[in-house]
Amino acid sequence: MVGQSLRFAEWGAEIDARVEALLGQMTLEEKVGQMVQIHLGTLGRVEGEERIRRGQVGSVLSLYGAAEINRLQRIAVEESRLGVPLLIGNDVIHGYRTIFPIPLAESCTWDPGLVEEAARIAAEEASADGTDWTFAPMVDICHDPRWGRIAEGAGEDPFLGAAMARARVRGFQAGDLSSRRKLAACPKHYVAYGAAEAGKDYNTVDISERTLRDVYLPPFKAAFDEGAGTVMSAFNEIGGVPASANPLTLGTILRQEWGFKGVVLSDWNAIGELIAHGFAADLKEAARRSVLAGVDMDMVADAYHDHLAELVREGNVPLAIVDEAVRRVLRLKMMLGLFEQPYTDESLAEKVILKAEYREKALDLARRSMVLLKNDGLLPLGRDVKEIALIGPLADDHHEILGCWHRIGSDQDTESVLDGLRAVLPPATKVTHVRGCDLEGGEEPDLAGVARAAQDADVAIVVVGEGEAMSGEAHSRAYLGLPGQQQALLEAVHATGTPVAVVLMSGRPLAIPRLVEQVPAVLQAWHGGIRAGRAVADLLVGAANPSGKLTATWPRTEGQIPVYYAHKNTGRPVGGDSIPQFHKPNWSLHIDEVNAPLFPFGYGLSYTTFEYRDLEVETPEVDRDSTLVVGATVANTGDRAGDEVVQLYVRDLVGSVTRPVKELKSFRRISLDPGEKARVRFEVLVEQLAFHGLGTLPGQRMEYVVEPGEFKVWIGPNSAEGLEGEFRVLG
Ligand code: BGC
Repeated sequence: MVGQSLRFAEWGAEIDARVEALLGQMTLEEKVGQMVQIHLGTLGRVEGEERIRRGQVGSVLSLYGAAEINRLQRIAVEESRLGVPLLIGNDVIHGYRTIFPIPLAESCTWDPGLVEEAARIAAEEASADGTDWTFAPMVDICHDPRWGRIAEGAGEDPFLGAAMARARVRGFQAGDLSSRRKLAACPKHYVAYGAAEAGKDYNTVDISERTLRDVYLPPFKAAFDEGAGTVMSAFNEIGGVPASANPLTLGTILRQEWGFKGVVLSDWNAIGELIAHGFAADLKEAARRSVLAGVDMDMVADAYHDHLAELVREGNVPLAIVDEAVRRVLRLKMMLGLFEQPYTDESLAEKVILKAEYREKALDLARRSMVLLKNDGLLPLGRDVKEIALIGPLADDHHEILGCWHRIGSDQDTESVLDGLRAVLPPATKVTHVRGCDLEGGEEPDLAGVARAAQDADVAIVVVGEGEAMSGEAHSRAYLGLPGQQQALLEAVHATGTPVAVVLMSGRPLAIPRLVEQVPAVLQAWHGGIRAGRAVADLLVGAANPSGKLTATWPRTEGQIPVYYAHKNTGRPVGGDSIPQFHKPNWSLHIDEVNAPLFPFGYGLSYTTFEYRDLEVETPEVDRDSTLVVGATVANTGDRAGDEVVQLYVRDLVGSVTRPVKELKSFRRISLDPGEKARVRFEVLVEQLAFHGLGTLPGQRMEYVVEPGEFKVWIGPNSAEGLEGEFRVLG
């Protein structure tokens, strides 16, 4: 079994037999216990341990360190009646101790292989320290950068989102089955959590079933197809029915249509929150609605612990539902090898954590995740620059760069931009560092100080943006400019006339048109993890060439949100940014802003240039069960080696329901030397053009189909540019 990945859809009769044998010995309370996840900090250590001893706990979350985990595991295995081991779940979101860039940044590599390697490293480290299960990947599609949790996902697109979901599941779950050096993956938050109204966390979601199926569900399906064996049900409601008690999404779609056989875990107290939603009068009613809808495990609400046995005894919840949930949990524990090897070798973590090769991978990923947004020739700086003014609250930061959900990640492990520059520049280069202001605006900015530093320098590098606590869960923002006094700081530097390169760090797209207009160069560095500072320095001096591309559209203003490239055309479409908006009434536009975003999905510059030529649609007519083949030549026309992410989009011109103006259907990252060119040939299964159209049978509301007709196709460097061709899908 060495080297085989863990696929939860596949298990043998032997596991079934063991599960049945164990289930047969369990009391109702012990069964319910397997459906309960506790948090010791919330419940209290004494009560938690007592419950474990009584066999009333299936899983514990947010517990770190092999010694402590072993201690609790011993209580479960040696002191509880049946000795069923605990499942330890943690949020290993973008690395365990080797913290990688936030997932939104990771997705900007457009390199699933690299993202898989990062997940693999996270699994190596976390499992060595006792974790069995990660609450990742977060696969929520999001069209609203106000939502703080956009940082945790792969951006706005279902196709790219699905590719990243698969990569991360592979990375977490691959490995030696018998060694326990892996994590069970838990895609979340099922489902449509990223569509919260106004981008406000936990807010109402009201979207059509068609959009749910075409946009929000595909990354989950991809994760399950890759073998993910658990899923987390979300906090939000969908059209009046909370996701953690939703018969359509949990029952009809997940279990019946997809045949999902794994464990559904509620999000934190999501069952308890059914009361606040106004969906259950009390915790007992909440437990009943969730378990009947298909939630197998209750994260911390104690709804199941307090009420499920009673509900079964009263006949309000069939025992068969409880038995089935327990089977799923036990099967997961068996597949993870927990019964054979419940304990973790306590000497392992220190040998595994922060290995040099992991730190190297974090650097590689950070470099490739950063996006060059603007460059009028100022970058790269080269190594001959004599004097640099390094300015801003994030210039020598060791903490914010870790990003949201870094958990046991430590400031001690990080390199700041200042560290990075010192490492890559010759000792003679003078780097004057002035922080200038804080992030939030609580301090009076030192405008005179930064101006003085900038005046004397050849170039000013201004490192500004968001702190780690300005994105992530419960950290949505209404204003997407630079927080605090940072724009004022930038103005003061700009006013000196010294050329300015801005390095932005953030957990989301920002709305910063003025900044982008003002300065000649902008590098988006996100929250780039432990090696972010070095990666920024490598990119600034030109030791590495930027190659990241955006996976979420950057709006010009909050008023453009929701903002995404795959929007509908409407009946009164206006495209582009050249339209004199105020003089074009009665069209789909704002009278005071252009329709074009600040930066489109897929966008990102390089220090070299790429030219696209000779698009050829090799299959101008395709059957529905065949393959579309489209190629183009991409040439490196600059004077440096570079990577380009070549993207293929289609548009289905007429459908039984309206279709997006563009949809990503393939992409490839290629490396080209100066003067080199490559023929990039995409083969797209025509079945990948399917969507939920109008059903053709009586009473059928929708049907997943590829509809015959005319299509456009583009191959290009981003969602707004590219060579255009056409093809027809035959009926
Ligand atoms: C978050 C989840 C997370 C869970 C456990 C919740 O508040 O929504 O994403 O996995 O907490 O920490």
